[in-house]
This record gives sequence, structure tokens and C-alpha cells, in this order.
Amino acid sequence: MLVNGKRLLEDARDKGYAVGAFNVNNMEIVQAIIEAAEETQSPCILQASQGAIKYAGLDFLFALAKTAAEITTVPVAIHLDHGTDFDQIVQCIRAGFSSIMIDASKYPLEENIERTKRVVEIAKPINVTVEAELGKIGGTEDQIVVDERDATYTDPEEAKIFVEKTGVDSLAVAVGTAHGVYKGEPKLDFDRIEALSKAVSCPLVLHGSSGVPYDALKKAISLGISKVNIDTDLRLSFTDGLKDFLKENRDNFDPRKILGPARENMKKAVIEKMEVFGSVGKAWR
Ligand code: G3H
Ligand code: ZN
Repeated sequence: MLVNGKRLLEDARDKGYAVGAFNVNNMEIVQAIIEAAEETQSPCILQASQGAIKYAGLDFLFALAKTAAEITTVPVAIHLDHGTDFDQIVQCIRAGFSSIMIDASKYPLEENIERTKRVVEIAKPINVTVEAELGKIGGTEDQIVVDERDATYTDPEEAKIFVEKTGVDSLAVAVGTAHGVYKGEPKLDFDRIEALSKAVSCPLVLHGSSGVPYDALKKAISLGISKVNIDTDLRLSFTDGLKDFLKENRDNFDPRKILGPARENMKKAVIEKMEVFGSVGKAWR
């Protein structure tokens, strides 16, 4: 069931769990996530990054995600991840995305507010949810690269002003996570999460959540994170499944035989995340 992102996140915030937002790139990945969601009755978000759109094409990717959302009974939002281009955001809205992210976090505060507001103005009247980012999340997510030295934590006072002025539905915050594979163990700033959650009226989003210890994720959720973005861990589970199969079956040349175990392995990883996020059994009809 395709739903608006705002409704998903508000339900999560009200009930103290988080919705998993998983990055999709092809049919097997979409199927792995949707089967996990269906099996555990977890609401979820299928999200497309810039790299995914470049790889699969917007139309293919949306058609896959829409089919998945329509055949399952669990609530699913289709979301544009890290949208940086206004024209592309319009294309996604026209295609039927139920949620989009405008990432203008690399600009100074006033410009971030202006760019975000412009998107809110076109999305809100047609019931499309808008996520924005304040502060700078380090690491690499496809084309978005933020050097560790340039990463800046989100300031709660600034966040309050940002949300009031833009009217966004959810806010991605920089609180110690980074995109990609971590070199050491990430340290989340829990006091900041708590302060942010008190300061702003909308649900908070955690990016760069792969590799974050599960107890830290659970604590972050208990303090107010309502959407948890996972990409890298899914890629790892997919390719691990694929490599394991090929190790045992070197001569196999059937893509279905090779991609099937990759899909299965990813499905297990998604279920594990959904259990950690507390979204299991939270689907409504
Ligand atoms: O926007 C997507 C996420 O923030 C994914 O981050 O690859 O570190 O899980 P990750
Ligand atoms: Zn991200």
C-alpha cells in the first residue's frame, strides 16, 4: 500500500519505533525489502539515491518500487534520497514519489532555508512529504561527498528556526553518523539527539546508519529518531550472498541462480534491521 511518508514517520514517532528507509537499485533489492516488510508486517520506505537513478533510470526504479508497494498490504512510501536538483525533484513528484528529500545542506543556512522552502511550496499542496537536511553528514553517498573535516553537527536552536521557517515534514540531522563503511566505531551524540527532538516539532531522520551498533541505534530511536536510512549494509549483504554462491558454484552462469541467494541474504539483513528499529508488527491496514 503506497502511503505518504509523513504518516509513516508520525506513526513511528508516536509509538516510539523507527521506519527503515532502504536504498533500492534493482528488482532483486526491491523484492528483498518488500518480502521482509511483508513477512514482518513492518512499514518501510523504498528510497532512490542519485546513483540509483543514474544506474537504473527514474522510470524503471519507480515502476519497480510502485509495483512492490501495490502488491503488499504493509504501508510503503517511495522516497527520493538526497535530492539536490529542483528539476529532478519535480520529475520525481510527477512520477508519483510519495516523499522526497531536498538536500541543500551544503549551502549556508539562509540558502538552505530558501531552497527547502521552494520544494515545500510545491510538494505540500499535493500531499508529498518533504525531508530536508541541516548540518553536514560526513562520508560518501553516491555523488554526495562530505570530507570528515567538513562534517558539522546539527545545532538544535538552528534546527528549530529551520523547521519553523521551511515547514518541512522531517529533518535529517548530523549527530555523529557518516555515509559508507566506518573506519572505527561511530559515536553518536545522544544529548544532541534528545535536544533536537525537543527543539523541533517534526520527526528526525538518521542517515549513515549502516555499521552503527544496534544498541546505539535503539537508543537513538528511543530519543526521537523516527526514520533510519540504510544503504551500505544492504549492499554488503547482497554482495556477500552473491560471492558465497559463486565461491561454491564457480561455473554457474545463470543470473537467476546467482542473484537469488543475494536477494535472500539481503532479505535476512533487512528483517534484522526491522527488528532493531522496532517496526515489526507495526503495519496498519
Ligand atoms: O541516505 C542514505 C543513507 O544515509 C545510507 O547511509 O550507506 O551509511 O547506510 P549508509
Ligand atoms: Zn544519507
